[in-house]
Amino acid sequence: MTKDFFARLALRGVAAGALLLPGFMAAAQARQEYLLTNDWKFARGDQPAAQQPGFRDAKWQTVSVPHDWAIYGPFSSTNDLQKVKIEQNNEQQATTKAGRTGGLPFIGTGWYRRQLLVPGFGPGKRAVLLFDGAMSDAHVFVNGQQVAAWPYGYNSFFVDVTGALNASGPNTLAVRLQNLPEASRWYPGAGLYRNVHLIVTNDVHIPVWGTYLTTPEINADYAKVKLRTQVEAPAGATPALRLQTEIRDAQGQVVATLTTPLRVTDGQTFEQNLVVPQPRLWSPETPVLYTASSKLFAGEELKDEYETRFGIRSFAFEAGKGFSLNGQPRKFRGVCNHHDLGPLGAAINTAALRRQLTLLKDMGCDAIRTAHNMPAPELVELCDEMGFMLMVESFDEWKTPKVKNGYSQYFDQWAEKDLVNMVHRDRNHPSVIMWSIGNEVPDQSTAGGNKIAKRLQDIVHREDPTRPVTMGMDRFDDDLKNNFASVIDIPGFNYKPHRYPEAQAKLPQGMILGSETASTVSSRGVYKFPVVQAKEQRYPDNQSSSYDLEACSWSQVPDDEFVAQDELPYTLGEFVWTGFDYLGEPTPYDERWPSHSSYFGILDLAGMPKDRYYLYRARWNTRQPTLHLLPHWTWPGREGQTTPVFCYTSYPSAELFVNGKSQGRQTKTTAGSPQARYRLMWTEVKYEPGSMKVVAYDAAGKAVAEEEVRTAGQPHHIRLVADRTTLRADGQDLAFVTARVEDAQGNLCPEATPQLQFSVGGAGRFRAVANGDATNLQPFHEPRMKAFQGQLVALVQTTDKAGNVQLRVSGKGLKDGVIQLQTAKVAGK
Ligand code: GAL
Repeated sequence: MTKDFFARLALRGVAAGALLLPGFMAAAQARQEYLLTNDWKFARGDQPAAQQPGFRDAKWQTVSVPHDWAIYGPFSSTNDLQKVKIEQNNEQQATTKAGRTGGLPFIGTGWYRRQLLVPGFGPGKRAVLLFDGAMSDAHVFVNGQQVAAWPYGYNSFFVDVTGALNASGPNTLAVRLQNLPEASRWYPGAGLYRNVHLIVTNDVHIPVWGTYLTTPEINADYAKVKLRTQVEAPAGATPALRLQTEIRDAQGQVVATLTTPLRVTDGQTFEQNLVVPQPRLWSPETPVLYTASSKLFAGEELKDEYETRFGIRSFAFEAGKGFSLNGQPRKFRGVCNHHDLGPLGAAINTAALRRQLTLLKDMGCDAIRTAHNMPAPELVELCDEMGFMLMVESFDEWKTPKVKNGYSQYFDQWAEKDLVNMVHRDRNHPSVIMWSIGNEVPDQSTAGGNKIAKRLQDIVHREDPTRPVTMGMDRFDDDLKNNFASVIDIPGFNYKPHRYPEAQAKLPQGMILGSETASTVSSRGVYKFPVVQAKEQRYPDNQSSSYDLEACSWSQVPDDEFVAQDELPYTLGEFVWTGFDYLGEPTPYDERWPSHSSYFGILDLAGMPKDRYYLYRARWNTRQPTLHLLPHWTWPGREGQTTPVFCYTSYPSAELFVNGKSQGRQTKTTAGSPQARYRLMWTEVKYEPGSMKVVAYDAAGKAVAEEEVRTAGQPHHIRLVADRTTLRADGQDLAFVTARVEDAQGNLCPEATPQLQFSVGGAGRFRAVANGDATNLQPFHEPRMKAFQGQLVALVQTTDKAGNVQLRVSGKGLKDGVIQLQTAKVAGK
């Protein structure tokens, strides 16, 4: 074992300097946590005896984890080609769906292998491996011996590997994963797509997810904090133990302390009740966090240290009154999101998640539903820090299948274990407000379905009595007829705004959640004429119109849900399908390759806002005004033709001008269609090139803001805009750089599609690119791609060296775009 080898283990939460001195470190540290990031060997296909220590993997690919083996493509219509009838979508016969799961090569077996160095391991020590998620059907081997198996690819699981390790080394870790065809309704990703942790403790220790922290009483003067801490110790003589807990506020000041002896009658759990004076409450607007720091002593010897980050907040769901947080009534301004990160695939990346949340925050969004599975732990941590309320969801299937090889095959044996891990991992997080036990499960319609619902809900209540259970129900009549909906703490309906009153009248809970809403389809920057509201609308170019009037047979445009939410006091808010476009499920082009990613997103697959972003922003962002015009105004050949103009704004009224000529003033009104209530619309505008400008008026009739869109000339240069220009030199951080094709005056050329090339110099590397076009088959990881509607987003990743990074983007006939970024080392990283 070399010094260098230790240096390549990323250490979490312990002084990095100690890494270079493993011999000295062991005695000093009660707990060491490592991320197993680098030096993994990976191969596709099944490899006999690949779990054996002596297996030769020298020719395998070297990869770092998180890793999604399928995202590198190539796309093909034959990857997981599904001939299916989607009952959920009311389909009457089976058809061939090529892009349903993204058209990427995730099917099959993959192996990961790595030397497992366990610094500080030895007599009296324990070692645990924690997988944040492995896609899928994981079998974990240490030194050739199987130590764990976990089928569900979205869940976290851990295993104590103490007995399988050679204390003197070497040790080999091997993981076999397998993805079956027809196992998913979307792109699941493939491989060790989330982090793998190695945790070394003393044999007297606090196990993984070993604390449960609740705040049973909160008022202005104090909050009671109840901490239950589990302890594991070797059988036989348990030494006299004591647990010393300090609660620190966000500034690191100690605000409460308590030391508790463990008495034999307590079993293996310490219960501590502390009081935090004048608590600062957690909310999406004030995401204040505290930390409970616990030290476990046996006599005078420090045996373990464990940190539990938490927030202090109260909430209530009350019949007839709805939801309130810290005593303030509010409705969820939520989005449903899939787990994939567009061009990164399922491979988790904190910077990518943070960028998504930053964009959602600006929209005024305050809640996320993790559709339809357990999220990455990084997402939950970021929601705590940035202020989002979470509905953490577990399953898309119970006993009755939706897809041939889906979760139903594991349900009987695994559902309870999966729920327990979900709840144990995330129950200390203030962001988590509800648990969801499922989405649109066909068991809503089967005899005994409500008994399954009750059983799952009871399991969740047993593990966490402080939060309610909900689920996304879509079979409205069966849900009511079968006493299914009446069982669930919070009845959540998908796409049923027109039936909320009926549900409210018939159900005992006295409240209704829009667990999944809208499913409007659109392609960023694409506008179709004539402008008509339509369901299942398809066009020859496999795009959907950005006038936000197109939906599926089962779904709606945003305004339909807005009306229900605004008029019915017992509604709890909504979770829009979806915040971001995701890989797979390319409705309404399920049967029309090359469509392979969704059209539902408020933001596209590259994370660029579609027009709809501003419709939600106008409603949800109450801190800043919104004024947005559509369509673009570069329509050679449409001169004199009717070209409707919409304005998404937080202001009540506005006047539109085309080349200075007034097109009249519009005011939002409840007297017409749902659209008239939430959008300003000029439907008879005749296109002429030049300027389209809107002047907005506030409620007092004062002109307060303007927005102008001008006709673009010829593409001239590339302009680059980065989401961040100062990054961490940690080999993970990412800048998302939007490249815009502009004319000489700086107007976006809204239909330009030039192929662009990327080169990165200095302390960074090109990571990926996406343009948000659901039909584009260019691979995400090659440094070239066509712009879509004049734009795309390039991802630049840092290395572990600090320095300057330069991204250059070029395209034929265009002046290059160049941007400088800086990377810096951050302490402890
Ligand atoms: C729902 C389903 C989602 C997604 C959506 C598309 O029925 O829960 O997973 O398929 O439809 O509209």
